[in-house]
Formats: sequence, structure tokens, C-alpha cells
Amino acid sequence: MKGTPRDGQRRVLILLPALALGLAAACAQPATDTATAADTAAAAAAAQQPVTSYTADDLLLASTKVALPPTTITPADLPDPQSQGAQYVVRFCSRCHGIPSPAMHSATDWPGVTRRMWLRMARIDPVYAIPVPEVGDELVILQYLTDHALKVSTANLPDFPGRQAFETTCAECHELADPRQHSPGDWFVVVRRMNEHMRAILGQELSAAEIQEIVLYLERAST
Ligand code: HEC
Ligand code: HEC
Repeated sequence: MKGTPRDGQRRVLILLPALALGLAAACAQPATDTATAADTAAAAAAAQQPVTSYTADDLLLASTKVALPPTTITPADLPDPQSQGAQYVVRFCSRCHGIPSPAMHSATDWPGVTRRMWLRMARIDPVYAIPVPEVGDELVILQYLTDHALKVSTANLPDFPGRQAFETTCAECHELADPRQHSPGDWFVVVRRMNEHMRAILGQELSAAEIQEIVLYLERAST
């Protein structure tokens, strides 16, 4: 160890055990077909090893630059939870991090995000026993994600006070949501939930005044 870690290094240190734990926990999930006690032990053992391969380093370093999906989504929270798409998202997409909600990205962004995930799955060490989808399964997953994607604003955003706060704060993790997708009374709860995600993922949160400004904007812009 050389001196005080700079910001980037600190985040690696935090994320390294987090990702390792996530992988071990994911392999331990009883609901998934390939998870066995041996897998769990192998993943736990692998997590203890110093990271030596380029692939694992690459994975960890990249994960410090981009947020992970939140860990709060359960299979039952997914839209149309019995569908094949939802079941594949749980099976293939929750082994390294929380279950990604299809509402986390717009339909235009999902192809790029999933392309990155196919690469991560293909390149991760088989010791983790992460299932890799066939091309046909990939299509089912992408279709499901885009069918239930975040609705983004296609028209110009109305120019009420708070527009700039909304535009800068709410485009950090996904495209700007269409204000008309919720009725005025619903926005407060949504923005509060986004603030929870910001706290968990970005390690920063909005002040009460900032929340109020954005909520007031969305309430006016949603009608
Ligand atoms: C092999 C491990 C692994 C699997 C399996 C995996 N991911 Fe990821 N995922 C990562 C890592 C590492 C990051 C953080 C770095 C990044 O964003 O590329 C991440 C980040 C994300 C993010 C947050 C970053 C963003 O761009 O919004 C989303 C959303 C996501 N994954 C969706 C998925 C989906 C959907 C699947 C299933 C098709 C999936 N992941 C499967 C490793 C994985
Ligand atoms: C830290 C990352 C992050 C930021 C910043 C963020 N979101 Fe989100 N957003 C998410 C995630 C993760 C989901 C999917 C899970 C969920 O719905 O809670 C989501 C989903 C959504 C959805 C679809 C789900 C729903 O309830 O309709 C809307 C709308 C939304 N965000 C609006 C916003 C607004 C408005 C802001 C600014 C206050 C914002 N987001 C900022 C991460 C973020």
C-alpha cells in the first residue's frame, strides 16, 4: 500500500469486497438451478484470492466508474413477473448485482447496456458459475427490457421553474423521464425513491429544498 488512497482507489477498495460478496451471495441463491453448495464454496474461495487476471481487474475498475443497479428489486417487483423475459432477467441478470428493473433505462439505452453485460458474462471466470444466455435467450431478455423500459420525454420539456434542476439531477443514471407518466400526486414518492437510489449508488443525496424544487416542477409538467 502506498500512502493515502486517492478517491478512485478508495472506491475500488469499497467495491472489491462488495462485488465479491455480491457474486458469492448470488451463487448461493437457492432459487437458481445451477447454484450448489460447491459453487458457493468455489465463489467464496475465489473471492478470497487476490485479483490477478486482467478480466477481473477490468471488471472491478469499470464498476467503479458506473453505478450498479440497486439491490432493492425483488422478482415480484418486475412487471409481468411470470413471463419468460422476467424469469430470464432474474436468472441471468442478478448474479453479479441486484435485479435490474426494466424501468431503469429507456428502450434506446437498453441495447447498449445489455451488450456490455453479454461481454461481462462471457468474460467472467467460469469458477463463478454465472449462467450465460444463448443468443435466443438474449433476444427474449432485450425484448422484455425494452417492452417495459423507462418512458422518456419526446416533446420539449415545459419551461417552468425547476426545469434545470430536473434536467441535471435526473439524467445521471438514465434518460430524462417523461413528466406525464405520473399524475402530479405520485411524483413525490418517485423522487423520494430516486433519492434513495442516489444515496445507495452515488453516495450523495438531494437536500429537502432540491427535492421540493424537482417535485414542484414535475407536478406542473405532468398535466
Ligand atoms: C458477470 C457479471 C454480470 C452479469 C451476469 C450482469 N451484469 Fe450488469 N453489471 C455488471 C458490472 C460489473 C456492472 C458495473 C459496470 C458496468 O456498468 O458495466 C454492471 C452494471 C449494470 C447496470 C448499471 C449500469 C448502467 O449502465 O445502468 C445495469 C442496468 C445492469 N448491469 C444490467 C444488467 C442486465 C440487464 C443483466 C442481464 C442481461 C446484467 N446486468 C448481468 C456485471 C454483470
Ligand atoms: C442514482 C441513479 C438514479 C438517479 C439519479 C435517478 N434515477 Fe430514476 N431510476 C433509477 C433506477 C435504479 C430505476 C429503476 C428502479 C425503480 O423504479 O426504483 C429508476 C426508475 C425511474 C422511473 C421509472 C419508475 C417509476 O416509478 O415510474 C422514473 C419515472 C424515474 N426513475 C425518474 C427519475 C427522476 C424524476 C429522477 C430525478 C429526481 C431520477 N429518476 C434520478 C435510478 C436513478
